[in-house]
Amino acid sequence: MNALMQPPASESNVPRTQDERDLLHYAGRLERPTKVKTPELERSGRLRHVIFSGQFSVELLEELGGVADAIRLISKHRAGQDFLINLLHHKRAMLYFTQPSTRTFLSFMAACQILGITCNEVRDASTSSETKGETRFDSIRMFSSYFDLIVMRSPLARLAESCAYLMNDLERSGSRSVPIINAGSGADEHPTQALLDIYTLQRTFSFAGPNDSAHTSRFEDLRRLPGCENLTKGLDGKTYAFCGDIGRGRTVRSLAMLLANYENVRLVFIAPDHPSLVMREDLRQRLEARNVRFYEFDSFEQQLDGRPVIEQLDALYMTRIQKEHDTAADSEHSAAIDFSRYCLSPELVGRMKPYAPILHPFPRDQHFGEIPPEIDDDPRAMYFRQARNGMWVRAALLAHVFDVDGQIMRYFHGNFGV
Ligand code: NCD
Repeated sequence: MNALMQPPASESNVPRTQDERDLLHYAGRLERPTKVKTPELERSGRLRHVIFSGQFSVELLEELGGVADAIRLISKHRAGQDFLINLLHHKRAMLYFTQPSTRTFLSFMAACQILGITCNEVRDASTSSETKGETRFDSIRMFSSYFDLIVMRSPLARLAESCAYLMNDLERSGSRSVPIINAGSGADEHPTQALLDIYTLQRTFSFAGPNDSAHTSRFEDLRRLPGCENLTKGLDGKTYAFCGDIGRGRTVRSLAMLLANYENVRLVFIAPDHPSLVMREDLRQRLEARNVRFYEFDSFEQQLDGRPVIEQLDALYMTRIQKEHDTAADSEHSAAIDFSRYCLSPELVGRMKPYAPILHPFPRDQHFGEIPPEIDDDPRAMYFRQARNGMWVRAALLAHVFDVDGQIMRYFHGNFGV
């Protein structure tokens, strides 16, 4: 694994750089249980910093989904767009992305633009003063002097969380301090991706159909299909399967912890028998601590309730194999694996439940082919809509952080009569 993806150096590991010493400075705070850390990342009952998915309750997820829906509808009209763009016209954001990104970067930028926030970016540390020896922590503190929000993606696990503590320390000493949003931290967490995944599931499992009326509903039509008699609305009581790079997929880790908030869910992790691709021990322990029922499988054909899991799941979250993190030993292990078993085919999709959405954080890998393009036209292929949902829910999150979500909901109720 890339050294930068590792958690901070432990006491026995003497830190060599100032960045490592800075991370070590926060080690005590990083290692506390989520429950203890969460209040420090809030102000007056709302999120101040967004660092890990453990900060989101089901109530907050519902609330953000409602605000995202409102922004989506308000944006359909010019007057609504003008209303939204004036809400945070006085704010500036820094998008500090020192790891490749297309969707997360652009959807944060689009979300900022919807609300009138001006965006600036550093996407390559080699163009910043980090090449002159500046630490990441100095960079962040500098950004906080010029901007009102820092959205950051880094290969370094827990850098975003440490930066949130830096901001809290600055606040306490009376210095300028701004919210930090984690847009992906090493192999660790990607909370806003999990947010858009949940928003997509909320929309999908509302089972609203375009032709629903007092007499006909898509939900009732689905419940008449064989095997769907017990279908319910919402995220509770469903079986969610994840397939691919479970070990290194930060989106999987963050989403699994959000799904743990729902009642009576089952999580199935389907990965090749490979030391870097199977679930990591810390996620296993976190799920156990939350009493979540989960299964670790190595194939779509493995049985769940006496049937192959591909036929039993309510939602399928595909991921790509993150080969860029392979070590020599990883490549050696991979040689013996038939990876085609972790790719979807029209035949496999044909065996899935008729409503089960196929999600993917993207990018998909054209060479690996975990989702071949033939599947894109299937109504269950949700990944492009999922990516667009990222823009709406990130706008809702920014509205929450800057406390303008109430104004949005009042405008929505006033103009849309709901
Ligand atoms: C993912 C990421 O960067 O963690 N992509 C994303 O943010 N949508 C997944 C990946 O790179 O495979």
